[in-house]
Amino acid sequence: MMKRLVIWILVAGFFATVGFAREAKEYDADVNYDEERLPHYDLPPLLVTSQGEAVTTAEEWRTVRRPEILSLFSNLIYGRVPEPDNPIETSFEVVKVDPNFMDGKATRKDVKIHLRNEKGKMSMHFLVFVPNRVDRLAPAFFKHSFNNTQSKDFDASTTRPGRLKSGWPLGELFDRGYGFCAVYQQDLVRHNEVEFLKSIHRLFYPEGQSFPKAHEWGVLSTCAWGAMRGMDYLETDDDIDHTRVAIMGHSKMGKATLWTAAQDERFAIAISAQSGCAGAALWRRKSGETLKKMVTRFPYWLCRNAWKFVEQEDDLPVDQHMLLACIAPRPVYVHSSVDDTWADSRGEYLSAYHASPVYELLGKKGLASEASPEVGKPIIESDVGYHVREGGHSVELYDWRQFMDFADYHFKR
Ligand code: GCU
Repeated sequence: MMKRLVIWILVAGFFATVGFAREAKEYDADVNYDEERLPHYDLPPLLVTSQGEAVTTAEEWRTVRRPEILSLFSNLIYGRVPEPDNPIETSFEVVKVDPNFMDGKATRKDVKIHLRNEKGKMSMHFLVFVPNRVDRLAPAFFKHSFNNTQSKDFDASTTRPGRLKSGWPLGELFDRGYGFCAVYQQDLVRHNEVEFLKSIHRLFYPEGQSFPKAHEWGVLSTCAWGAMRGMDYLETDDDIDHTRVAIMGHSKMGKATLWTAAQDERFAIAISAQSGCAGAALWRRKSGETLKKMVTRFPYWLCRNAWKFVEQEDDLPVDQHMLLACIAPRPVYVHSSVDDTWADSRGEYLSAYHASPVYELLGKKGLASEASPEVGKPIIESDVGYHVREGGHSVELYDWRQFMDFADYHFKR
């Protein structure tokens, strides 16, 4: 009897694996990973206004071209946050303080950010860790987090000293004098059909509206808005230096990170880890994930106007290098990895490279070479930083260390 059961399990396992492999292959069949098969493309000019005038001064960039580009990203890619009829009231409640986090290395504060108006209320759970061994305000990393800030992922690991249960090396961050904050991506919005309708958006709809208009905010814009509320709290916090905050996120949260920092100049550094499509990667390369893949698999991440550019990427008046340029003169850092072809590592680098003329116009240091750097040769001493490592889609200790070096270079010089 037992023997038959084992044979049955093995046979079922074999067919399941074959079926799965075939599905994965079909899914990939229409995705291009081959540099030889890239479409020809011309990037929209960064330093020419929509009126066709050349932008030659920092002043023209700041007052004309940057606002123009931000408005294009708002209305066509991520979606605008509408002005609600009843203003949202925000209040902060420090619900718990633990001064002995990680054997006394840091103080952990659990903060509730309450958001309410006549239409309803929601709250976010914001975590703030302050290193105990610093004698002045601490700079901080601020993570757009996939991990729930109310889960045990943020408890100190009992088996790996200096790590969180999620694996992140917070001990090392504290030792280097950094604080750490996190907002959870799903506190205000979720991306399935049913949950999306229950999101923070409902507080913003005028009578009769129940779904965002084509130019109004999708999931990534909502996450960005939430991070800004976290920054509102930090402005009131006595332990973190809110003028030295590096916002960071991986993958979907890397996309949200860039959009947050592009809009909100209170974030002093932006670090995008493997943000790929709708993050650092260029739309027009159509390498790895494309706009079509994104809007069909995740219809709520962007605004509905973005759907109109599916297979019409050349008609977009922006590409993602322009998003990075909107972060200038504040430092931006892009991280890729060799096997993360879905995120188009080369396209991520090129975006950073093509954003560089704006950094230079503003008197900062951009990337000098169009060629991607080799693995193991991070670019740290620059206002546009970058590294690529071996391996796949994750944030490893090596990556964290490059982020810390980049933050040290800018915050501690
Ligand atoms: C999917 C998606 C990517 C995204 C990733 C993630 O792979 O296609 O765009 O970056 O999920 O968030 O991990």
